[in-house]
Amino acid sequence: MTQEHRLKGGFDTRAIHAGYEPDAITGSVIPPIYATSTYKQDGVGGMRGGYEYSRSGNPTRTALEGNIAALEEGERGFAFASGLAAEDTLLRAICDPGDHVVIPDDAYGGTHRLIDKVAKRWGLEHSSAPVSDVDAVRAAIVPERTKAVWIETPTNPLLNIGDIEVLAAVAHEAGALLVVDNTFASPYLQQPLVLGADVVVHSTTKYCGGHSDVIGGALVVRDLELAELIAFHHNSMGAVASPFDSWLVLRGLKTLGIRMDRHCDNAEKVVEFLAGHPAVTQVIYPGLEEHPGHEVASRQMKRYGGIVSFRVTGGEQHALDVCAKTEVFILGESLGGVESLIEHPGQMTHASVSGTDLEVPADLIRLSVGIETADDLLADLDRALG
Ligand SMILES: Cc1ncc(COP(=O)(O)O)c(C=O)c1O
Repeated sequence: MTQEHRLKGGFDTRAIHAGYEPDAITGSVIPPIYATSTYKQDGVGGMRGGYEYSRSGNPTRTALEGNIAALEEGERGFAFASGLAAEDTLLRAICDPGDHVVIPDDAYGGTHRLIDKVAKRWGLEHSSAPVSDVDAVRAAIVPERTKAVWIETPTNPLLNIGDIEVLAAVAHEAGALLVVDNTFASPYLQQPLVLGADVVVHSTTKYCGGHSDVIGGALVVRDLELAELIAFHHNSMGAVASPFDSWLVLRGLKTLGIRMDRHCDNAEKVVEFLAGHPAVTQVIYPGLEEHPGHEVASRQMKRYGGIVSFRVTGGEQHALDVCAKTEVFILGESLGGVESLIEHPGQMTHASVSGTDLEVPADLIRLSVGIETADDLLADLDRALG
């Protein structure tokens, strides 16, 4: 069950080849979907390649795990049934009852719900701080009890930027791990482990899968002791990625680089269009010079990503109307697929944080800019904005 990710080369070469060697018997270039729960043993304990039972390991999953580890420049990857399954497994691997974590004050709603409504009942406490404010993050740490500083950068949906290198130092000073949810950037645009983070989290449902046809999650680490702890919980808790889902995510990763470049090209055109539109009061995109995180994003990201948030002149109803009127942008949750999506975070993805200090503005719209013909995206937004 070794993860074949030592392959050197540029990002796209690793995306296409890392994690899998053409099959020794058939030469199959693409890993088969190993739809098996168990494996024949050659005598008791005589496992072939370490495979014993598919919760513990499955060759299709191993290929994905090696591939994503290579893309993040980590040592080991772990593939899960969803991003939240990955998060839950990580929290229970690294925290005990009575421990504390720091989370973004605009964390993805599901992450907040997991930590605030589920993990809290089991004794895990948390504080929130803006990822862009290093002093606030430092102040939110509880000495001796904070086990992880958990950030997203860019955050969802306000696209705030945290300085990974600086926050890694802040976390490490306090004896805590820096966990980076890299879902929005993807490993093509940003590699947190290289910048000093300890754990990378992905909802592979998004850019890694890239085609809106799979729910999945991943963790990647460099430290082998931490990897063992996660491996133990991965198997013990059992929220693993299925062989078919692993295959889909692996297929998506092969084209991550070219997809991300097109997502970024289109997002830049959408940003320029929205910035000049009279019905738009604010465009939020880390690529804009006026974005408060622009300088840090320019340092740690290759480009600025495919997510664009904006606010409209007519308040919440106006935002809801725009979401209802687009035709190319599909109204729906999620992000990172080839098709453009539009959503109202206040009533959709972030409804679970309504009334908390993580509530998002009611006139906010989030776009996941897809890879369609850019002119069609601009015309669609123009029509919907009126
Ligand atoms: C930034 C971020 N992290 C984690 C998740 C959770 O992932 P999943 O939906 O695959 O469980 C999401 C889902 O939208 C997300 O946007």
